[in-house]
Amino acid sequence: MPVAATPLLIASQWHEGINNVSVLEILDSMEYGPAPEARNQADAWLATHKAGFKLFIGGKWRAAKSGKSFATHNPADGKKLGTLSQAGKADIDAAVKAARKAQAPWADLSGHARARYLYALARLVQKHSRLLAVVETLDNGKTVRETRDIDVPLVARHFYHHAGWAQLMKAEFPDQQAVGVVGQVIPWNFPLLMLAWKIAPALAAGNTVVMKPAEYTSLTALLFAEICEEAGLPAGVVNIVTGDGATGELIVEHKGVDKIAFTGSTGVGRRIREITAGSGKKLSLELGGKSPFIVFEDADLDSAVEGVVDAIWFNQGQVCCAGSRLLVQEGIADRFLTKLRARMATLRVGDPLDKTMDMGAIVDPIQKKRIAALVEAGVDEGAELWQADEGMPKKGCFYPPTLLTGVEPSSTVAREEIFGPVLVAMTFRTPVEAVALANDTNYGLAASVWSENINLALDVSPKIKAGVVWVNCTNQFDAGVGFGGYRDSGFGREGGREGMYEYMKPVAAPAAVTEKMTALPAKTKTSDGMPAIDRTAKFYVGGKQARPDGGYSLPVQGADGSVLGVVGDGNRKDIRNAVEAARKATAWSAASTHNRAQVVYYIAENLSARADEFRDRIRAMTGASLKNATREVDTAVERLFTYGAWADKYDGAVHSPPLRGVAMAMNEPLGVMGLVCPDEAPLLAFISMLAPAIAMGNRVVVIPSPAHPLVATDFYQIMETSDVPGGVVNIVTGARDDLAKTLAEHEEVDAVWYAGSTKGSEMVERASAHDLKQTWVNNGQARNWYDLAQAEGREYLRRSTQVKNIWIPYGE
Ligand code: NAI
Repeated sequence: MPVAATPLLIASQWHEGINNVSVLEILDSMEYGPAPEARNQADAWLATHKAGFKLFIGGKWRAAKSGKSFATHNPADGKKLGTLSQAGKADIDAAVKAARKAQAPWADLSGHARARYLYALARLVQKHSRLLAVVETLDNGKTVRETRDIDVPLVARHFYHHAGWAQLMKAEFPDQQAVGVVGQVIPWNFPLLMLAWKIAPALAAGNTVVMKPAEYTSLTALLFAEICEEAGLPAGVVNIVTGDGATGELIVEHKGVDKIAFTGSTGVGRRIREITAGSGKKLSLELGGKSPFIVFEDADLDSAVEGVVDAIWFNQGQVCCAGSRLLVQEGIADRFLTKLRARMATLRVGDPLDKTMDMGAIVDPIQKKRIAALVEAGVDEGAELWQADEGMPKKGCFYPPTLLTGVEPSSTVAREEIFGPVLVAMTFRTPVEAVALANDTNYGLAASVWSENINLALDVSPKIKAGVVWVNCTNQFDAGVGFGGYRDSGFGREGGREGMYEYMKPVAAPAAVTEKMTALPAKTKTSDGMPAIDRTAKFYVGGKQARPDGGYSLPVQGADGSVLGVVGDGNRKDIRNAVEAARKATAWSAASTHNRAQVVYYIAENLSARADEFRDRIRAMTGASLKNATREVDTAVERLFTYGAWADKYDGAVHSPPLRGVAMAMNEPLGVMGLVCPDEAPLLAFISMLAPAIAMGNRVVVIPSPAHPLVATDFYQIMETSDVPGGVVNIVTGARDDLAKTLAEHEEVDAVWYAGSTKGSEMVERASAHDLKQTWVNNGQARNWYDLAQAEGREYLRRSTQVKNIWIPYGE
């Protein structure tokens, strides 16, 4: 039947290539019409840079001294968008110099003044939001729906939030200061958002930055540099240099940089850890993931299907925290996968500037090839492939939504980060099995848990080894809620209070005071005139004394040169045994904070009861005066009290991000920590490292001072009488750096604190690179263990824990 020409009919005529299509017919077929976002303003901006983009250094646009350049393309159609400069060594030198010059004046501004600049940046990002969104879409290939509604609003939110931290810095972080010049290297998957995550906290804390965007997606960073000019940001505070990995490495290596913040692949993250080892540079790494998406049988399945869409097809799956491993409870697996396939068939892949598209283009043909090769490997290993590839664009860099079922937990596609729109599905039977499968990965960035049973969801969430857990939601981000991972996903957090600490360091601490030692007379005879009984102190492993595996021992010299005793000479095997014992003592990490506080107080009580004995031991070992040795023991008792006090007070936080719900930030113990003690103040340093670690729920392997190990070996009896469960504290004596190396290399050790030499510090950082464990080294600088600012407090608690954010939406 002919339909009269109505406004609706006319409106329908924009449907490309089809005229005279009625609304009724459209409603009948449910076909979408195109809804293209205009690109004329973005094109005009690109046209003004036709001659090529320069580098933004010291507030000026400079041609690269390297003279090199490269092209950047639109992945949706392969067309060139512009020419970028490849920054070389001289350019990085200039950028670091500019940042250095600007740093002190920037840090010296009032918090309010810095807040005003950050606020101006936030406002300008909003003002230019559409241009930023369109340029991002052109450069990256992600849909404009996402850049407009997610990326850019989150960028503005990040600058607003951190304007607040700048304002509050003095009040909220009175003992902290800026780190200095920060080198920042970011990836291509959220180009502008990652820039904001890095630049906003750095600037808020008073740092200046040299930032390198990814080579595929540098345009919004360059547009942001223009926004910095518009905001009147002082020259040199933000420097933007473009280039590839080689440029990134020049920043990482640069001696004038005080901190590196990196987001990208785990391989490059490891390399950066190795390069920066021993340099004293602060480091935060936000790396890849293989995040589980767990659907329990009582979940709201339709919501969970939508959750999967957001988890793995958002940004074409090029998301570090993508829910790429679907774990479905067996009883509902078929039903859930049927629903999921049906939903996949409705996903629209195509022109990213079309506002009706669900998925855009993959960032680059190289990346697409990588995805295809991994999917092929999965199929070769027996996985069943299902792709929603109908209506895929014929040209451009697109890859269809993909589901692999029948996947084994050990298969390549279940273990490796694919970084594309590829979901692998597995099943589980019980919650315990779900947790085991979820944790069966080297990564630990995020997880998503779906269940209508809040008890189950909240029981499972803390058990998953990941920095972020989303309950009945996924891919939620907010500037006020920390984000970051465990293990191969890197360390450090971005966002929130914890993110600010990544860009600060404690205010300058007074130098360590070393006491002039007086030699005591050699004591080879006991007071009754009999020769002293030779006693070899063994190790303390799993709550028992253990002989050295190698059967060797080392003499311990007193201050007067006499032999005070003999301790075991530990080797790799001894460390392995100690780590195994620590690994097993999981109940300690789950114990109540009250319970842990009681034990730490009890240690203090027993040490106090035997204060004289320890005082004499310290005197004999170090030659300390009576007064100083007494002070050391008394301070050690007091320090134990401090951490007994903290054990049940170092609470997390409840954030109120912009969603109906909350995000609970929980301070979790790291797990097994290696503590390598210095020679100075042997008892006090030993306690200062041990007490915070165990108070926060870690189990530890301690290497006491090799020069004065007897304070630690005498301590066994104190632990035995203080209800310290076996395996919570393990002690192995011997050569500090050899044992520290074994600890740093050990995959079951989650963190190492090292107080020794410069060389040893470098070794520990380097040896930890392979599994990216957290390290805290002293770079050869002695600490004053009596100075509260250096030797106790929140920094020790922070370094004994990691923040896990659990997002819990509420409402029907
Ligand atoms: P990538 O890690 O090589 O690149 C990220 C950034 O690091 C870029 O700015 C790059 O120029 C820079 N870079 C590269 N080598 C460097 C070096 N030696 N020193 C300093 N900076 C360096 O990532 P790529 O090659 O682009 O992607 C490969 C894989 O990495 C992806 O398939 C994905 O699995 C993973 N990836 C993970 C990301 C995440 O957010 N977790 C982001 C990007 C990639």
